[in-house]
Amino acid sequence: MLKKKILIVEDESIIAIDIKNCLIGLGYEVVGISSTGEDAITKAIELKPNLILMDIHLDSELDGVETADKIRTLLDIPIIYLTAHADENTFQRAKITEPYGYILKPFEERLLHITVETSLYKHETSKELMELKEINLRNEYLVSLGSMIAAIGHEINQPLNTISLLNNGLLYWHQRNQKFDQDEVLNVLKRVSEQVERITKIIQKIRTFVRPPDKREMTRVVINDVIKSSLTFFQSQLNSHNVILDLQLSDDLRYISGDPIRLEQMIANMLTNSIYALDKANRPDKSISIITTNDKNLRNVRLKIIDNGVGIPNEILDKIFNPFFSTKDVSIGMGIGLTICKSVVLEHQGKIKAENNNDGGAIFTIDIPTDISSL
Ligand SMILES: Nc1ncnc2c1ncn2[C@@H]1O[C@H](COP(=O)(O)OP(=O)(O)OP(=O)(O)O)[C@@H](O)[C@H]1O
Ligand SMILES: [Mg+2]
Repeated sequence: MLKKKILIVEDESIIAIDIKNCLIGLGYEVVGISSTGEDAITKAIELKPNLILMDIHLDSELDGVETADKIRTLLDIPIIYLTAHADENTFQRAKITEPYGYILKPFEERLLHITVETSLYKHETSKELMELKEINLRNEYLVSLGSMIAAIGHEINQPLNTISLLNNGLLYWHQRNQKFDQDEVLNVLKRVSEQVERITKIIQKIRTFVRPPDKREMTRVVINDVIKSSLTFFQSQLNSHNVILDLQLSDDLRYISGDPIRLEQMIANMLTNSIYALDKANRPDKSISIITTNDKNLRNVRLKIIDNGVGIPNEILDKIFNPFFSTKDVSIGMGIGLTICKSVVLEHQGKIKAENNNDGGAIFTIDIPTDISSL
């Protein structure tokens, strides 16, 4: 079996050697020893250890807690603190970085062994769970694509049937050598043309639904920039609909790996929906809040779009993401906006949920995983 690789971060060389010998004796491979936080980050990236043992007090600009915090936003490596510092304040600071263990020096070999083994096992299990989650998300995407295709078939079938009926009517009269009434023919042509227009519209919308994977441009994006860019188009609309925009964008928002154009499409669809719901609401203080935050453990970036419009009736909450589900008149809505949003979110391995605000209006929450692979 391959030996598990461990990086030691310790600024006192005698203690570092002591830990190293102990770990080697326990059957691990020590891939490096760092005496500063900065060196630990470089070594962690280069050597990709399976686990890091981190001293808290380091003779460097970054202390152990700050180093651990930086490493965990970049890499998925379990960290155990091995420290002489046991005061409450240090412990609280360390806790925020979600360490896999906290061992006090002088350490006992048996406790070190158990903590390392438990951490490696816990980390492996959580990785497997994450992989499973990813497979589930991908399946969900395929299922939603499948139901989309079925819905498109149904949606296009309706105008096609109408066209066919209208044409067959004319052909029937023609076969019986009946005279055509010009107005009647014009009326049929007009209705056929309306149905063709509807099919064209459906196809145009579908084009934006699935962007072929090779056309997707995944880059490191801060979602705040996407929001600001969408707003350059929407600000005048918001003004003309008397909607006040409340922007609460986190200034230390983490990067995501995303396709800015797809994300803009998503935001545009949601803002369009909110503006419509606000138009329908009979209130003077119409507002849309756009809020971005990092979640507590920095795994996801969260985007919330909240309006105080008419809200979503509870009985349709579970249907609104379905393809072609709409409560709007056919000339206004096709029921595809939120389907696009959901597909964009799934392309980004994220989640979207809708709920109603107690004060009236809708809340949409989107979580997209933080990009941890790149610096
Ligand atoms: N912010 C919101 N407030 C209240 N209801 C909403 C909101 N967003 C969506 N809905 C409801 O969800 C339905 C589906 O939305 P979706 O964006 O998918 O389609 P649409 O807006 O009806 O049509 P399209 O987006 O294709 O023009 C809407 O018809 C509406 O009933
Ligand atoms: Mg819509």
